[in-house]
Amino acid sequence: MINDVAVVTGAGSGIGHSIALRLAVDHVIVAVDINSENLTKVVQEIILQGGQAHSIVGDVADRVTHIQAREVAAIKGTLRAWVNCAGWTRGAALHDFPSDPKVFEELIGTNQNGTFWGCAEAVHAFITNKTRGTIVNISSVHGRRAWRDHAVYEMTKGAVDALTRNVAVTYGPYGIRCNAVAPGAVMTPALAKSFADAPNPKERRENLEKLTPLKRIANPSEIAEVVAFLLSDKSSYVSGQSIAVEGAWTSALGAIDLDENLARRYGLDSRSGLPE
Ligand SMILES: NC(=O)c1ccc[n+]([C@@H]2O[C@H](COP(=O)([O-])OP(=O)(O)OC[C@H]3O[C@@H](n4cnc5c(N)ncnc54)[C@H](O)[C@@H]3O)[C@@H](O)[C@H]2O)c1
Repeated sequence: MINDVAVVTGAGSGIGHSIALRLAVDHVIVAVDINSENLTKVVQEIILQGGQAHSIVGDVADRVTHIQAREVAAIKGTLRAWVNCAGWTRGAALHDFPSDPKVFEELIGTNQNGTFWGCAEAVHAFITNKTRGTIVNISSVHGRRAWRDHAVYEMTKGAVDALTRNVAVTYGPYGIRCNAVAPGAVMTPALAKSFADAPNPKERRENLEKLTPLKRIANPSEIAEVVAFLLSDKSSYVSGQSIAVEGAWTSALGAIDLDENLARRYGLDSRSGLPE
């Protein structure tokens, strides 16, 4: 019988959904999302694959959502892991940002305040329960590099990285670890929508692939595996880090094309770089 509990916010879709399914192998999942329909689906999916899951419908910007998640976790077992994944972006230039203050406040509310309250409730539970819990916050390459029209998003993800360091330093003496994962482009409903909304979706996708040395967009499960590692004892001495999972995107000075001569010389496909 599994007794370890993991809270996953944003579990209804994309990266959070993949993380919830991956962690359900050895955790009871408390899945949090604002979208009740998707939340019901992920809970059913976990139960169908033999796991245990419970849902909290709520806005992560409200502390009460996290308090509820903490309280449900306490009833279902021992809270060991907490993943703050709920987040979204709105691309707009600073000078052109929607003047409706709600957009600005809601973006900061979800990405930044949501992560803050998640960390606050997680450490509260770990300290009172005397457990050596672990937190993973989902950041972004945007927390460390700039891209036109992403000012507010980048501000929130920079804040997520800063908060991650603070939690790791403040609660490290009590055995609590906190890390962030900073994905590059990941194929989720959010990214698919951003492609669909672009004037030329195919070009937008190809541009992202070109900029990434691994020449492809990640699958959400590739992020979930790193989160699972950071929550496990295998990473017992890793804390306070923001780990980029982005196919070497932020290591590159620009787009690098595959060298066709090199590929031919070694019998590799001149487009994919893979064996012919
Ligand atoms: N997809 C990418 O390329 C990418 C890259 C880097 C970082 N990220 C980050 O990964 C996380 C997940 O992104 P995704 O692409 O899977 O998006 P997604 O839209 O597929 O999933 C996000 C989930 O969060 C939920 N959510 C949004 N606001 C919420 C709120 N206020 N309260 C509770 N739940 C809320 C949504 O309902 C949805 O289920 C985000 O933090 C995002 O910034 C994504």
